Amino acid sequence: MTDQFNRKINYLRLAVTDRCNLRCSYCMPEKGLEWLNRSAIMSFEEMIRISDLLIRMGIDKIRITGGEPFLRKDIDLLLSGLSNNRLLNQISITTNGTLTEPFVGEFRKWKINSCNLSLDTLDRETFFSITKRDEFDSVISTMNRLLSEGIEVKINCVVMEKINIDSIADMVELTRNLPVSVRFIEEMPFNGDLKSFSGNFWNHLKILEHIRALYPEIRKTEDPAHSTAYHYSIPGHKGNIGIIAAYSRSFCGSCNRLRLRPDGGFQTCLYGNPVFNVKDMMRSGFSDEDITKFMINAVQLKEKDGWEAESMAKQGQSIFSSMATIGG
Ligand code: 5AD
Ligand code: SF4
Repeated sequence: MTDQFNRKINYLRLAVTDRCNLRCSYCMPEKGLEWLNRSAIMSFEEMIRISDLLIRMGIDKIRITGGEPFLRKDIDLLLSGLSNNRLLNQISITTNGTLTEPFVGEFRKWKINSCNLSLDTLDRETFFSITKRDEFDSVISTMNRLLSEGIEVKINCVVMEKINIDSIADMVELTRNLPVSVRFIEEMPFNGDLKSFSGNFWNHLKILEHIRALYPEIRKTEDPAHSTAYHYSIPGHKGNIGIIAAYSRSFCGSCNRLRLRPDGGFQTCLYGNPVFNVKDMMRSGFSDEDITKFMINAVQLKEKDGWEAESMAKQGQSIFSSMATIGG
């Protein structure tokens, strides 16, 4: 499956819930949240139906995101259902790590070989001030369990002026003895609290400069195809470093992804609006063939890049949605 720019589309990001048990400042406001109604969220059967259609169209990798995926009751049913499709090579998951540990032993069975953990600091107090919850220990425990099970661990660290700049060095140090990939992410101005995005923005160049000042021996390494991160290694370190220009959007030219929102919104760019709703189609009785046609058409029209998608998004403002309904 290719789009109008001849990009091969083979990666689906499936957001299974909009809810989360943390309140990361860059993602959700602390109060005044309105969750989707249960009936507005796709059932696992609906998610598996759409995923199976997309797999037939050429998707071979699915990432489960949220919200926090492990807040969904019986998430194991979805994971085993998806992994039953023999054409699907790989499932990966992005989680905050607070509820994840009891499931890690089963990851391999579900074709989950890689897990992204959200962790923006190694300082307990800073963790609390970012997430508003005292869950640091459970996240670290999940990380250790993932490593002991041989699951690849990528740590997502959003870089925020005045909040976790002091943590950058600690996060890099983590890669010295652990085979983890720490990915520093530019903060995107999606924050649900609509805080205006001004002041000292940490873009990917500034993040690199900061790390290079601490580790002058840092080296650029090859970026895998379709990767959203710039990859680096530090000689002698077991793990490695990534820098993700999430706001600068330097990676759109090789984008291979589609997104499904928990409510069935079918989205062809992180920065765009949903193009149509697959849940509504299913519940109105459309056939697999009809839904497939809609999806092929939407993929064809996938936006050139995040800038185009953003300017086309109808709301007339760039801060149109929290990451928790799009899944990153
Ligand atoms: N900017 C950058 N990254 C974000 N994430 C969530 N909100 C933002 C934001 N505003 C990332 C977090 C989390 C993942 C699900 O999305 O790193 O790990
Ligand atoms: Fe939850 Fe992830 Fe959003 Fe934090 S970034 S509030 S862990 S969904």
